[in-house]
Amino acid sequence: MSALLRIEHLEVRYGDLIGVADVSLEVPAGSVVALLGSNGSGKTTTLNAIAGIVPVSAGTVAFDGENIAGQPAYAIVRKGLALSPEGWRLFTQQSVENNLLLGATPLSDRKRIPQLLERVYAVFPRLAERRNQRAGTMSGGERQMLAVGRALMSEPKLLLLDEPSLGLAPAIVDSMYDAFAALHKDGQTILLAEQSVDLALEAADYAYVLQVGRSVLQGPATEMAHNPDVQKIYLGIE
Ligand SMILES: Nc1ncnc2c1ncn2[C@@H]1O[C@H](COP(=O)(O)OP(=O)(O)OP(=O)(O)O)[C@@H](O)[C@H]1O
Ligand SMILES: [Mg+2]
Repeated sequence: MSALLRIEHLEVRYGDLIGVADVSLEVPAGSVVALLGSNGSGKTTTLNAIAGIVPVSAGTVAFDGENIAGQPAYAIVRKGLALSPEGWRLFTQQSVENNLLLGATPLSDRKRIPQLLERVYAVFPRLAERRNQRAGTMSGGERQMLAVGRALMSEPKLLLLDEPSLGLAPAIVDSMYDAFAALHKDGQTILLAEQSVDLALEAADYAYVLQVGRSVLQGPATEMAHNPDVQKIYLGIE
């Protein structure tokens, strides 16, 4: 079966600096794939390059069989690819609900919006309670939920999640990951960047590990959980 997303030899440069040097990975439709790696290994750069937020210097990003590398972010989101970014990037002066509605901007079928809104509120009841609150006054965990909810509002074929557990209390992380499990069960395809290995491997079917901008290790999540090389890469032991 052909993958929904296939990245081959992705390279991203920030001027003279290398963001990622050589990343290859595949995300089959319906699967949850984890992108692991320590600080600065290139997870955010990879997700941002897929979403068209940073330019691709070399390599291909094939989505649904089409090379989308070099296309602008607004065109990519319309193809069915939505990112919940690291650091949220919310409209802080707007209400929770308006932020969600803005997430639906790329949607061509406007009649779907009430249904999608209800789905997000079902996944994150906290957002439903606070639908009229200004996004800028939400707690860190609530903003994280809002960023994920906003990405879901475009009904993406592929949901890109950048460190959704960052800075959250364990109970909130658990409920966030319960939500991902429910989405997975519904057939949602997800590429999930995480520093927390245990959490990501529990949620994922398959995983890739990045090390200084290169995809160096991959395997089924259940095998990666017992692979001593994963820990070695995190600890920087060669
Ligand atoms: N705008 C930028 N300009 C220059 N270098 C950058 C820029 N953004 C990222 N980098 C560099 O690219 C490399 C990869 O960073 P990236 O943010 O992708 O890592 P990450 O795996 O997401 O890390 P973290 O777990 O800390 O979020 C790092 O060396 C980083 O310093
Ligand atoms: Mg990052």
